[in-house]
Amino acid sequence: GADDARPALLLDWYDRHRRRLPWRPPAGERADPYRVWLSEIMLQQTGVKTVGPYFEKFLARWPDVAALGRASLDDVLRMWAGLGYYSRARNLHACAVAVLRDHGGVFPETEEGLRKLPGIGPYTAAAIGAIAFDIRTMPVDGNIERVVSRLCAVEEPLPQAKPLIQELASTLLGPSRAGDEKSRAGDSAQALMDLGSSICTPKKPACALCPLNDDCAARLRGDQETFPRKAPK
Ligand code: ADE
Repeated sequence: GADDARPALLLDWYDRHRRRLPWRPPAGERADPYRVWLSEIMLQQTGVKTVGPYFEKFLARWPDVAALGRASLDDVLRMWAGLGYYSRARNLHACAVAVLRDHGGVFPETEEGLRKLPGIGPYTAAAIGAIAFDIRTMPVDGNIERVVSRLCAVEEPLPQAKPLIQELASTLLGPSRAGDEKSRAGDSAQALMDLGSSICTPKKPACALCPLNDDCAARLRGDQETFPRKAPK
């Protein structure tokens, strides 16, 4: 297939196979920026399965960012116990305080605005921007690096290939239409995350099930598992 069919194939696959995760709203409904932010901070160093129950506990106790911003740091740290990397919990609390105090309890809707908040770096700003606000930006994590490096048979090793992979990953958002800044960016990003975790796995990828298999440069060479290339230590 042609490269320009990829964005639509990816979204079509996502509509049929997306994982139901606690922070994802039913198909077609708007994502809640608070839930997206909370899940992205928890998922920074922790897997989807572990995060689920913590996410639910936080949401039950603090249903919105204003409530979390009024909580004590000690209560937040106690609720975080077991997730590890406690600087995340400190930044989580500091971020909620800042959103409440400086933004009236409403998350900024630009990557630039998000990046100024505690605990939100370029990746997390892109993830929240795409998933909560459908900004045309692609958050590239390790899973997405693997999918894209295979799809495009990126020979340059990591980490040098990161800018190229970012650029290639962004093409999967589909063309921007004139006067249309928004797209299904969040669904495109989460489709790649789901593809990377369920099909385009590090070992023995299930290429037969992949919506992009016709068009995967690494697979066409029979060479899927050797991507992404890594620089010798
Ligand atoms: N990892 C990081 N963000 C994620 C998301 N929104 N869905 C699934 N896995 C993720």
